[in-house]
Amino acid sequence: MDIESKYNISSYGFLSEYNSETMPLGWDYLLPLQENISVDDGELFRKTVHKIAPPDNELDQLIERIPDLALKDQKFLYAFLGVVQAKYVWAKGEKDTEANIPKHIGKPLHAIGTIMKLPPFFNYYPCTGFNWNLKDPSKPFSLDNIRVIFSLKQKFREHVDNFFLLHIAIEAAGGKCLADMMKAKEYMIKRDNKKLVKVMENVLTSISNIVNIMKQFPVKCSPEAYYSFRHIFNGVYDKEKFPEGIKYEGVECDPILYPSVNAGQSPIIPAFDTFLGVEHQDNDKLIVHGNQQFYHPRHLQFIFDLGRAPVVKTYIESINNKELTTLYQKCAEKILNFRRVHYSIVKTYLYEKMKAHNVDLSDIAKGERHPSDLLNSFINSTQKNHVHTLQIKNRSNPGYILIPIFVVLLSLIFMKFYKSLSQGH
Ligand code: HEM
Repeated sequence: MDIESKYNISSYGFLSEYNSETMPLGWDYLLPLQENISVDDGELFRKTVHKIAPPDNELDQLIERIPDLALKDQKFLYAFLGVVQAKYVWAKGEKDTEANIPKHIGKPLHAIGTIMKLPPFFNYYPCTGFNWNLKDPSKPFSLDNIRVIFSLKQKFREHVDNFFLLHIAIEAAGGKCLADMMKAKEYMIKRDNKKLVKVMENVLTSISNIVNIMKQFPVKCSPEAYYSFRHIFNGVYDKEKFPEGIKYEGVECDPILYPSVNAGQSPIIPAFDTFLGVEHQDNDKLIVHGNQQFYHPRHLQFIFDLGRAPVVKTYIESINNKELTTLYQKCAEKILNFRRVHYSIVKTYLYEKMKAHNVDLSDIAKGERHPSDLLNSFINSTQKNHVHTLQIKNRSNPGYILIPIFVVLLSLIFMKFYKSLSQGH
């Protein structure tokens, strides 16, 4: 089996391609919601949700038939119902939230999530992975040639859509070298450094492209637009708003609690960290592990397998190849660059906006670590990793200076000893 099929990787990495845009047959009761998915009027949105409820027996029959649906239909329903669930909770902003999800939304969402082995609530993966298509399939992938399937809002629509499109483009840019990174293992075993150089060049190009797309945020999606819908990405951990999490009517399960939705739930940056051997602090590792519950199971397997020996950092250190060392360092610098650019975006889009709206920044931390501490900690470990590894070995490892000095000293001692011996005779 090739790498792509084994790990469910498309030509666009972890993104799914050729996504369905139509409601699966039989699920017509959801059509009025599909037409109104982007309405800004929260009251109207919730009313539409209530109005469309089908009779219980019809709903149960549909749910029973979910396993028979084509995968593309399951993906569509999973993404769509996830968006509806989040919009239903947050339809009227942060002050008027709703914790009880009606049966005809929550029950099928729970069933599809269980079947697809994905979380039965709104999260990052379907918002990007299943929420796009090429505008013109005869043309190549580019930010200008992709569109979202579900628009969340009418107001600022272009910018809100762009928010998702930028994430999708980042996933695709990073996704280009996933298979290469896995193939690198074979090249290291065969000590084929020429092929490894090619992989490292591709990795560098991918991370550089990610950073370039990140830099387009201020032009394509204004902080105002982002701030107007960011509450939809809030989790439901806030004990005041959701003392018991959220509940799905008709589903017997523990109350549902989920954290805020962000691209940290994507395996794309962890894939680069894993490939480059970027080690995070123990409490940051917990965040990364927590986010793994949102990965597609085969994407999670990809990350595990990528972390298995041989790994590039140890290999490059052991062979001391200048070209590979330089390439590694450039990749490590780029991933650090990504985190710095990301931090500046989070500052402008989130912290400064919250301050301007008189929202207490500690509100988003809820007694746990503030996201700014968390992001700084990720930056620090990336920086440490970068500075203390290969550079030391190649530029300032004392061994490289001490060995010649030691050899010269030894020769001098030997010469002196030989001279005294010959004088003794
Ligand atoms: C307006 C845009 C964005 C905002 C406001 C934002 C916000 C955040 C926040 C608040 C966190 C901390 C999460 C936590 O507390 O658990 C975070 C983490 C993270 N975000 Fe973003 N983010 C944005 C765009 C992106 C993009 C485009 C990517 C690209 C993949 C990304 C990748 C990550 C990653 C990988 C983490 C985990 C920390 C790390 O590995 O450095 N974010 N983001």
